[in-house]
Amino acid sequence: ERVSLWGGRFAGGPADALAALSKSTHFDWRLAGQDIAGSKAHARVLHAAGLLTAQELEGMHDALDDLWADVQNGVFVAADDDEDVHTALERGLIERAGTELGGKLRAGRSRNDQIATLVRMYLREQAKEVSNLVLDVVDALIAQAQEQPNAPMPGRTHLQHAQPVLLAHHLLAHAWPMLRDVDRFIDWDLRAAKSPYGSGALAGSSLGLDPAAVATDLGFDGPVENSIDGTASRDVVAEFAFVASMLAIDLSRLSEEIIIWNTKEFGFVTLDDAFSTGSSIMPQKKNPDIAELARGKAGRIIGDLTGLLTTLKGLPLAYNRDLQEDKEPVFDQIDTLSILLPAFAGMVATMKFDTERMAELAPQGFSLATDIAEWLVREGVPFRIAHEVAGSCVRVCEERGIELWDLSDADLAEISEHLTPAVRSVLSVEGSLGSRNAVGGTAPERVAEQLEQAKEQVAEF
Ligand code: ARG
Repeated sequence: ERVSLWGGRFAGGPADALAALSKSTHFDWRLAGQDIAGSKAHARVLHAAGLLTAQELEGMHDALDDLWADVQNGVFVAADDDEDVHTALERGLIERAGTELGGKLRAGRSRNDQIATLVRMYLREQAKEVSNLVLDVVDALIAQAQEQPNAPMPGRTHLQHAQPVLLAHHLLAHAWPMLRDVDRFIDWDLRAAKSPYGSGALAGSSLGLDPAAVATDLGFDGPVENSIDGTASRDVVAEFAFVASMLAIDLSRLSEEIIIWNTKEFGFVTLDDAFSTGSSIMPQKKNPDIAELARGKAGRIIGDLTGLLTTLKGLPLAYNRDLQEDKEPVFDQIDTLSILLPAFAGMVATMKFDTERMAELAPQGFSLATDIAEWLVREGVPFRIAHEVAGSCVRVCEERGIELWDLSDADLAEISEHLTPAVRSVLSVEGSLGSRNAVGGTAPERVAEQLEQAKEQVAEF
């Protein structure tokens, strides 16, 4: 018959079907290290409260250290009868310290405050790991931007040619959101850094245990303010899942562009052989699978967030077993991002841009029309008229199948008295780029400036 944590009240063990449903060791085992650290901290407060002698504390800690060593070297594993990582490790402790001593550890704690604490500990660690992997992607974007400081490309809105921009400017436009994702993880940690340990099942502990001491011991800033909230809420987990989703979306947006840039029609970018795949039937194929997987996995990661939010919706206080479902979604996000980000960083670091082709396309599609309008404004013409005049230039060019810079002095004068030959100063990609020199704009000196800012931001993290 099964051994359980609640023997006394029950006539027998759980049915096999219940045990199978209830079991979580296959996914919560990764919290074993946190569980043992929590147990050691809990033993210390039991000692401080006079519930363990100094000798018992030492014996408890030795047994927990042995157990941890056995977990790490694979000697101690989950048994069929273990419901979750906490029950398994309690079994392991009792096997090593005996029932008399091992049985004392559970005083004043519940799996409810344990799990709420352990998941925070784990996520706080993982937020740092994932952030470092994100910074590798940002580094790759910055290096690419630095490599091509003055290369222009067609800037787009609605996927149509809009205005020429610098490739470096565009690449940094993908780096900043990722830097904000890292910043979000850092900010999230302020809220995650409160420990629910000591909340007990929900109402707190009657044994004189000090939650603040456990919190400090486990690297938290302090204990949660409210034991019911501490055991019942998972907004900290959901917020992590949102940041992971936002990050996945930011990777997916860049992926979509890389996929398009990598087509024959665009021809902006070539992916390195080591970061592309071939086809089993078409010998010529070279596919951008990393970008496609990143785009695809964003869907899965968003699904994890959606599932978690749906689990939390409508739960009454305090702990409900539904909350066991908080872990797999974020674990899946972490596992997915941990394999995706290194491949993604490698792909970005090794992409080769066809800067000649991008430069050639930059002024096409009349992308310098706004420059004519803004030149006119600087000449004192009201923008409403300037817009119309520049629009007429485009219409004339379109009718004749020529580009804006092909208009003769006479053509210009005929379109508007305000259009003197001096307008040609902005009818080049360089002129256009250089004129957009306000903070954040695409002028080379401004882009160089934000490149430095991005590097400083990375260094600060
Ligand atoms: N394994 C559970 C979880 O992950 C913790 C166990 C609490 N179970 C209980 N019946 N109070 O949330």
